[in-house]
Amino acid sequence: MKPINKVAIIGTGVIGASWAAFYLSKGFQVSAFDPAVDAELNLKNRVQTYLLDLFELAEEQTTSSDHYVSDTLKNLTFYQNLADAVKDADFIQENGPERIDLKKDLYAQLTQNCPKDSIIASSSSGLKISDIQHDCLYPERIVLGHPFNPPHLLPLVEIIGGEKTQANYIHDAFEFYTFLGKKPILIQKEVKGHVANRLQSAIWREAFYLVSEGVCSAEDIDIAITNGPGLRWAIFGPYLNMQLANQHGFKAAMHHLGEPMSEWWADMHPYTLSEEKIEMLNEETQQFVKKLGDKNLQLLRDQALLRSLKMRKELDLP
Ligand SMILES: NC(=O)c1ccc[n+]([C@@H]2O[C@H](COP(=O)([O-])OP(=O)(O)OC[C@H]3O[C@@H](n4cnc5c(N)ncnc54)[C@H](O)[C@@H]3O)[C@@H](O)[C@H]2O)c1
Repeated sequence: MKPINKVAIIGTGVIGASWAAFYLSKGFQVSAFDPAVDAELNLKNRVQTYLLDLFELAEEQTTSSDHYVSDTLKNLTFYQNLADAVKDADFIQENGPERIDLKKDLYAQLTQNCPKDSIIASSSSGLKISDIQHDCLYPERIVLGHPFNPPHLLPLVEIIGGEKTQANYIHDAFEFYTFLGKKPILIQKEVKGHVANRLQSAIWREAFYLVSEGVCSAEDIDIAITNGPGLRWAIFGPYLNMQLANQHGFKAAMHHLGEPMSEWWADMHPYTLSEEKIEMLNEETQQFVKKLGDKNLQLLRDQALLRSLKMRKELDLP
C-alpha cells in the first residue's frame, strides 16, 4: 500500500469538518476545499471544538488542550480550489452534498486533478459507488468510506467498492481505517443506504408511523428507546442481544420469539412521508425539545458519546 501522509477533505460541512479533526488528530497533513462562502472560517471553528473532544479521548495528554489545538491546526490548509487541495493528496475523503448529479461532476473533476493511485473514499450515506464512479478517470480506486455522525468520535466506517473498483483498493481502505482505530465493516453487495442507515431507517419508519397513528408521543418513542433497547444496543447488537435473550442461545430465543415477531412484522406498514406528516412530527419533536429547557443537546450527546467510547474501550466490547 502506498504510504499515506496527506489527506484531502472535500466538502467541509458537518461530516467533512469532523473527518478533518479526526485525520488531524492522527498526525496527517490535511488539505481542505469547500466552495461555500465562510467555509474556511466555519471549518476552523468546528475543527477546534472537535479537537477538544479528541484531546479528552486521548490516552496520554502531554500538553495543554490549548497548545494541542493550536499545534494540530497548523497541519490544516484550506484551499480556494479543488485542484490545489487534491493535487498531492494520498487519500481523499469526499463529503459533498448527497446528490448524484453533483457527486458525479465532483468526482469527474477530482479524478482529473489528484494522483492516479490515491484512494478516494466517499462519505455518501446512501448513493452507490457504481453510480458515482461512472464518469471518472481511474475509477478503480474509488470506494465508499461511510462514517456515522460525528465521524471524529464514532468508530464505524462502512466500506464497499463499485462495479469498477479494484479489490486491492478496498483492502487498502479497510486496512487504513483499521490502522487509525476505526471499526470498518466490509459490505459485500451494493444496496441503497448501505447497512447501518437501513437499520436506522427501519427504526425511524416505525417511530414515525407509531406517532402518526397516535399510538404514543415522540417523547414516548425517545424514552422507550433510550431507556430500553437503546441501552443494550450500545453494548451488543441485535444478534448478540438475541443470543442473550434465552439461556440456550440464539436458536432457542428465535423459536420462542420468532412467531410473535413475525406477526408484528406482518402488522407493520409501508410509511410514506408527506409535508403534512413532517409538520406534525416536527411539532411533536419541538414540544419534547422545549421541555428540556436550555440544555445544549449536541454538547450533551457528544459528552455522553465520549464517556460511552471510553467505557467500550475499558470493557473491550466488540
Ligand atoms: N449528516 C450526517 O449525519 C451524515 C452522516 C454520514 C454521512 N453523511 C454524508 O456526508 C456527505 C456530506 O453531508 P453533510 O451532512 O456534511 O452535508 P453538509 O451540507 O453539512 O456539507 C456538504 C458540504 O459540501 C459543500 N459543497 C457543495 N458543493 C461542493 C462541491 N462541488 N465540492 C465540494 N464541496 C461542496 C457544501 O458547501 C457543504 O459545506 C453526504 O454525502 C452525506 O450523505 C452525512
